[in-house]
Amino acid sequence: MNRDIACIGAGYIGGPTMAVIAQKNPDRKVMVVDINQARIDAWNSDNLPIYEPGLDEVVKSCRGKNLFFSTDIAGAIKACDIIFVGVNTPTKTFGEGAGYASDLQYWEAAARTISQEANGDKIVVEKSTLPVRTADSMAAVLHTHPEHTFTVLSNPEFLAEGSAIRDLLDPDRVLIGGPQDRRGKAAIKALVDVYAAWVPRRRILTTNVWSSEMSKLAANAMLAQRISSVNAFSALCEATGADIQEVAGVLGMDKRIGPKFLQAGPGFGGSCFKKDVLNLVYLCRTYGLDDCADYWESVISMNEAQQKRIVARTVKALFNTLAGKRIALFGFAFKANTGDTRETPSLTVANLLAEEHAQIVVTDPKALPNAERDLAHLQNITLEPDPYRAAEGADAILLMTEWDCYRTLDWARVYAAMRKPALIFDTRNILDLPALRALGFNTLAVGRA
Ligand code: UDX
Ligand code: ADP
Repeated sequence: MNRDIACIGAGYIGGPTMAVIAQKNPDRKVMVVDINQARIDAWNSDNLPIYEPGLDEVVKSCRGKNLFFSTDIAGAIKACDIIFVGVNTPTKTFGEGAGYASDLQYWEAAARTISQEANGDKIVVEKSTLPVRTADSMAAVLHTHPEHTFTVLSNPEFLAEGSAIRDLLDPDRVLIGGPQDRRGKAAIKALVDVYAAWVPRRRILTTNVWSSEMSKLAANAMLAQRISSVNAFSALCEATGADIQEVAGVLGMDKRIGPKFLQAGPGFGGSCFKKDVLNLVYLCRTYGLDDCADYWESVISMNEAQQKRIVARTVKALFNTLAGKRIALFGFAFKANTGDTRETPSLTVANLLAEEHAQIVVTDPKALPNAERDLAHLQNITLEPDPYRAAEGADAILLMTEWDCYRTLDWARVYAAMRKPALIFDTRNILDLPALRALGFNTLAVGRA
């Protein structure tokens, strides 16, 4: 076996992960391939297809040396004996399991290509989030060409967008699941060696395949559940006069609870949480575990309720009508430091505002190209890169994404540009509300009366 690495799928996971693997393994060739020519061209340009702090530097340090981006999928499969699969696995929109199960068509296509093009034994590493037991199906697809041996490993990615490079360089843990026979153990060792180039061995965990796949779903479900729990408390805080920031501060100091993922807000977005929880619900139902399925499903319904509540409170504060009013959304990305808008709460809120016949203006430092695509179905939408211009004539600003640039805006200038009475709704709890009120703003925040 050779040491070179291919990755099928040059997306948010494949691109950054392979860039870091290449940088830390200068003696291995790393080939990232994709069917999307435009995406590959962007990876080969100065304007990378995704925004991620620190990514440019890592890519520049090894692109053209041992890191290559191309559409030659067959060539990469032949050249490399370790093949990562990082293709998209969105929630199914049709057929059996629609709305819950993962759509595995891209992933199956990738597996079939590997089995057709392979010229020898390969280690296939499943990187996309996939429902539990997919490695089994992948093995079945691969073995349609029995002349070669394919060993399928599960190596879930735990990086969060916006901090992907930091997470990759210094992961809490790397998880590798594989078959427990001799060949499986050898494959696990080969993959452990890739990560051991920079990750301490004690942080590299090896398990059976199904534990690994399940752990990824479980980790994301636990994190999503924390956010829904804190958002449920935020609603109660608003009703009772408690302050969610104070409550979360108290919770976080309990070592058993810990301080992370206790930030109330507009609900979780991103490509993983909703998809993975829905997947978990589907799995539970498949195995007849309806109580478990209902439990996890409530994490999603709580998230949706939070976005509805934000719009309902806005309507109430603007005298029960938004018709014709200009509402500015500050932030369209699902979180700060990314241009990604998949499952962003801003889109749900924009749709609900549109139902109220509001005129919506959207500003964001990185996500406007994606916003333009996501909002194409709506009328009365303006995209405006400059937040001060976005505020002009607005009745309300809904601060949706916790970008640093919004913390440091000249809020007096923003206030002057707005129609009065001017409302600001800080859905992320990042602004100094008393200072804003002193300027003349009406204020709303999540989880605070
Ligand atoms: C997540 C997981 O963190 C990561 O391990 C996994 O690999 C992919 O899914 P990501 O979706 O990129 O990563 O971002 P994350 O930082 O987890 O945030 C997800 C969403 O939760 C965002 O919309 C964020 O704003 C929201 N969030 C997060 C909160 O509302 N409150 C919090 O306290 C934390
Ligand atoms: P993720 O967040 O999981 O990385 P993305 O959607 O960002 O997901 O990236 C997945 C990438 O996989 C896309 O660039 C897509 O073009 C690519 N892809 C999907 N199917 C195939 C395939 N059969 N062969 C090669 N690339 C594929």
